Amino acid sequence: MRRTTLSRYLIEEQREKGKINADLRLLLEVVSRACKGISIAIGKGASAENGGVFGEAGSENVQGEAQKKLDILSNEILLEANEWGGHLAGMASEEMAEPHSIPNRYPQGEYLLLFDPLDGSSNIDINVSVGTIFSVLRCPDGADPTQSSSFQQAGTQQVAAGYAVYGPTTLLVLTVGDGVVCFTLDREYGSFVLTHENMQIPADTKEFAINMSNARFWDAPVKRYVDDLLAGANGPRGKDFNMRWVAAMVADVHRIMTRGGVFLYPIDSRNRDKGGKLRLMYEANPMAFIVEQAGGAATTGTERIMSIVPTALHQRVSVILGSKSEVEIVEKYYREMN
Ligand code: F6P
Repeated sequence: MRRTTLSRYLIEEQREKGKINADLRLLLEVVSRACKGISIAIGKGASAENGGVFGEAGSENVQGEAQKKLDILSNEILLEANEWGGHLAGMASEEMAEPHSIPNRYPQGEYLLLFDPLDGSSNIDINVSVGTIFSVLRCPDGADPTQSSSFQQAGTQQVAAGYAVYGPTTLLVLTVGDGVVCFTLDREYGSFVLTHENMQIPADTKEFAINMSNARFWDAPVKRYVDDLLAGANGPRGKDFNMRWVAAMVADVHRIMTRGGVFLYPIDSRNRDKGGKLRLMYEANPMAFIVEQAGGAATTGTERIMSIVPTALHQRVSVILGSKSEVEIVEKYYREMN
């Protein structure tokens, strides 16, 4: 059986399909290598206590959230791996207030890389899945990649996006705008091997993901939608729904990519002044690109996530994504009730 590694897939996307150029191929190879490094660090677990990778770092990120040592380490792995290849103009991370410049001693490329180095990091302590999310944009002609404004592009401008899930196996899910593919890390060979071609999210679902403890803060359309689901076979939807919440967006979205469903982290009365909880450029946009490429949809409730032109690098946003028919129902409720 032919074994398609990530390298081979990328070569074919470049040479045969002309979907990517050599620099973007290198960028994606380098990001995948960094994800392997993060996977190894996570896999060491508390046994690496002496090496110092587990536990609280004692610092806060730009969002005011406590950083774990693994947040910082994962960020450093991604920065270090991507600095010197000549494929990037700049990087921005959820963990850093300002964009990270490529040191002068290295050549600069045309791309901008944005990432959430360790999504769902509170799951680390309980040995549950975490992940890395990334998004790739072009640096606009003449733009200064040290400035946040160069990164503030709508999600529709993304040229690639992906995530790694560090679970029972390490997976890399990727889109270069040519559908969605999933690779599994073969630890013996040290390479990512194609295991799911052309991932598709079923349009209809019986599963939803939301943090129910926030119910009292939700907007009326979200309350109405979730009430419908909870009413099950006797309610307006006429069928029973199941609920799951891993509390790591990567893991929840990966479940939806695999068996369908809808994920909601909506704007609510607690986070309204911030615009929502999840980050537009490090979480929502890359996941929206992947979900749309898999036939799903991604909205704030009132607009397509990828259409938003960001006004700040660390902007937050309301996120409702997954199976198309479900996302459309939430949008309909927002239209009817606003
Ligand atoms: O943004 C970080 C994150 O951990 C997401 O990965 C996840 O979906 C969400 O926060 C979980 O939030 P909560 O703890 O409020 O359920």
